[in-house]
Amino acid sequence: MLVRKKGGPAEKLEKDDKIRSHDFYSPGGHIRFFLPQAGRNFEARIIKAFTPFTNSAVLLLDTSAASSYLPDRVILKLADRRFTTRFDRHWNLDTEQDFQANLSQYFQRHGTAPPGLDDDSLVNETPLWFHELRFWHRSATAHRVECEAYKRLHEAQNLGLIPKLYGLTKVQMADTEIHPSLDVIEGLLLGYVPGRPMGSFRLGVDIPYEEAEKVSQKVLEMGRRLRRYGITHNDIHTDNIILRSPDNSPVLIDWGHAGFGVADAPLEERWNSERVWDDYYGRLRVILKLESWHSFQTPWANEEVLRMARKWGKGGFKFWNERIEASLSPGWERLYEEDKSVDVNTGQ
Ligand SMILES: Nc1ncnc2c1ncn2[C@@H]1O[C@H](COP(=O)(O)OP(=O)(O)O)[C@@H](O)[C@H]1O
Ligand SMILES: [Mg+2]
Repeated sequence: MLVRKKGGPAEKLEKDDKIRSHDFYSPGGHIRFFLPQAGRNFEARIIKAFTPFTNSAVLLLDTSAASSYLPDRVILKLADRRFTTRFDRHWNLDTEQDFQANLSQYFQRHGTAPPGLDDDSLVNETPLWFHELRFWHRSATAHRVECEAYKRLHEAQNLGLIPKLYGLTKVQMADTEIHPSLDVIEGLLLGYVPGRPMGSFRLGVDIPYEEAEKVSQKVLEMGRRLRRYGITHNDIHTDNIILRSPDNSPVLIDWGHAGFGVADAPLEERWNSERVWDDYYGRLRVILKLESWHSFQTPWANEEVLRMARKWGKGGFKFWNERIEASLSPGWERLYEEDKSVDVNTGQ
């Protein structure tokens, strides 16, 4: 049993199991989304799709049609269960038909969604459609978590440490009224950060090592500032840090795995929470080190060391970093805390 509505994103589908995300969200195409602050739908042109999609479908939109509510360029991040490519999963028209038919049948029989969506032990025992429903559940949960993070991180938005949230939205797929996974795709409208994710830079080619060192210091400062809010990110990696042009200031995106364990505690507790420390102190240093962004400027990093490291390229910096680290680790840790605006013990 198929439950699809003409005019929804599924309308374009034909019997072809090679259908992929770009059939739905191709640049130049249009997308209709509901904007609560206006109480109506708007149509926007897709300027860019950030493919390959992993957990969600992220689009850059021309939103000039909604210019009294939104800037002209906005990011739409859709919790679209179909395009999760994680876990070796590839959605296609057959799995979609199977999903819709079985979910509808289940509802007719039981009047409710099946239990056990959070239960990982069921992974090998359940039919494919149930897995599809788990993916929906996963992306709906990540969407809710991300909404909460943005709602709590107002100040960080104003400081430019994370994108601005312009609103929550929905894209209507169908109106079966059987289950939200069949009817709507929920989304976030976020400020567009012009620039590039750190993960896309080739050090020494796209960005000189000296500039990478400056960026590293800015990333650590971003970490110190975010640490004060006590909200863990839990998915920090270089593709989730965009360097905003033109000054390469870092912006941390993708808050779908955030944690709020100590978010309401007093500042000193937030600042000293082990989990919060892990993210904004530990994790950031690990990625800067592993991906060679940080050249570990210590008293050892004199002209001669820098000259040799430069001569050897990326491997050279790694070599010297390892030597410096091996013999002087308390030294380089101290040098990360040059920012006197935050007390390193209390976050005040
Ligand atoms: N606000 C933004 N401004 C500019 N690019 C963005 C923004 N949000 C996301 N992107 C781009 O889309 C990609 C995927 O977004 P992300 O939020 O990390 O989604 P996912 O949860 O699927 O990883 C990012 O790596 C980045 O290239
Ligand atoms: Mg991401």
